[in-house]
Parts: sequence; C-alpha cells; structure tokens
Amino acid sequence: MDKKIISVINQKGGVGKTTTVINLAAGLTMKGKKILVIDLDPQGNATTGLGLSNTENSELTIYSVLNGNKKISDVIQRTKFDNLNLVTSNVDLSGLEVETAGDSRRAFKLKDELGSILNDSGASYDYILIDCPPSLSLLTIMALVASDELVVPLQTEFFALEGLTQLMKTIEQEARNYFKEKVYQIVVPRNVRLSEAPSHGVPVLLYDKSCPGSKSYFTFTDEFLNQDKQVESAA
Ligand SMILES: Nc1ncnc2c1ncn2[C@@H]1O[C@H](COP(=O)(O)OP(=O)(O)OP(=O)(O)O)[C@@H](O)[C@H]1O
Ligand SMILES: [Mg+2]
Repeated sequence: MDKKIISVINQKGGVGKTTTVINLAAGLTMKGKKILVIDLDPQGNATTGLGLSNTENSELTIYSVLNGNKKISDVIQRTKFDNLNLVTSNVDLSGLEVETAGDSRRAFKLKDELGSILNDSGASYDYILIDCPPSLSLLTIMALVASDELVVPLQTEFFALEGLTQLMKTIEQEARNYFKEKVYQIVVPRNVRLSEAPSHGVPVLLYDKSCPGSKSYFTFTDEFLNQDKQVESAA
C-alpha cells in the first residue's frame, strides 16, 4: 500500500524538522493533496508555525489523545489553509512518558489512532506528517512505530559557517555515498525568510513564495512526490 504516514525525525535539535513539516505540508496542499499534520513536540512549533495556539485549547491536543482522554478525530483542528488540518501540541506533552509508564502498549497508541483516521473514508488524507521532538524519547518511538516512511533533515551548515566549505561538501557527499538514492537531491540554503515565516504563523511558501527557501521547498515537494510514485510503481 501507499506510504501515507511520514515522520520528520532527527534527534538532533534545530536541524529544520519543523520547517520541513510546515513547508512540505503547504507544498503538498498546493499540489491538491489533503494533509494532516501531527505536532508531536511539546515545544508546539509546528502548531504556532501553522497559525494555531500552543497555549489555548489545552484539551484539544495530541497529549489528550496519547493519554487516552480523547479520540484523535475529536482533536483535529482546521488551519487557515485549505486541505491542511492539524493536531496541536503544547508543553503538557512533556509529561506523557512518566504518566503512561504502566501502560505496556503505549508505544502503539499513536499508530492505532492514526490507523483509525486512515480507515475513516470521510477523512481521506493523502498524507499524515508528524513533527518529532529532538530526542530519542517515547514520543519518537511512537512516531517510528506509526510511520510508513521517515524524512531526516541533515544539517551540514555548521561547517560552512566555519569557512570549511570543502568539509561541508565532503560530509554531504559521504551521506550520499552511504545512503545513496535515499538522500534527497535538494539542499535548502540558509534563508532568513524561512526563519521569519513562523512568527507570522504561515508556511514560507505563502509568506514569500519566490524567496530561495520557498524555491527549495517547492523542489523538495516535487522530489517527495516523485519518489513516492517510484516507490508505488516498484511495489
Ligand atoms: N534554511 C533555513 N534558513 C534559515 N533559518 C532556518 C532554515 N531552516 C530552519 N530555520 C530556522 O532555524 C530554526 C530551527 O529550525 P526548525 O525549528 O525547523 O528545526 P527543528 O529541527 O524542528 O528544531 P527542534 O529540534 O527544536 O524541534 C528555526 O528558527 C527556523 O525558523
Ligand atoms: Mg521542531
């Protein structure tokens, strides 16, 4: 079957996970796809980046689903963007691991809930994108268990800042040599528009659709869809 549930994951912080989730989601909706974003990070950055609050409506979050108080269909919220729905997060989620310690099936909870969404023909999402926290915690394990596919943003830029451009290229090349076709071709450049957009609660693709960051994420969206097609035809 097709790959529907995709986690954007990397235990390292600040590598562009949330930026990728927001803009891949936006790019896919612009291609006519229906998307559900799950904010699985207590920081709630995907929530605010898509224009919703990570402080209000504290009952309507992924936390309430994962602790068994609500069904996922009860907490799906609309964003101001067509065909882009969101399950929000807030800081409450950071207590989940301790609070569910006695539940031996807890690692499967997210998978089970997302399965119920995909089986609900009325929902008809093309993709569910999960924004993971920067840790190897229960939350990350829940995302791994639930996912058909992972997207792992890699940051090589630190070395560029050091002026070691050749080393940066070598590292990028080593990632490509090792992971081969699994590495997307797109390299998103540093672009201030990407870091401005979240404070306006919009994807950069809408904030400034012609800036270099947007161009990169449009290209990434195409690459993502093409790769998905190849996976489907090979199956
Ligand atoms: N290509 C880019 N150019 C400039 N700024 C960027 C770029 N990508 C991301 N940023 C900014 O860098 C910061 C970290 O990015 P982001 O939040 O996407 O990373 P993350 O991996 O989700 O972080 P965390 O691990 O804390 O969840 C954010 O302020 C974001 O706006
Ligand atoms: Mg993030």
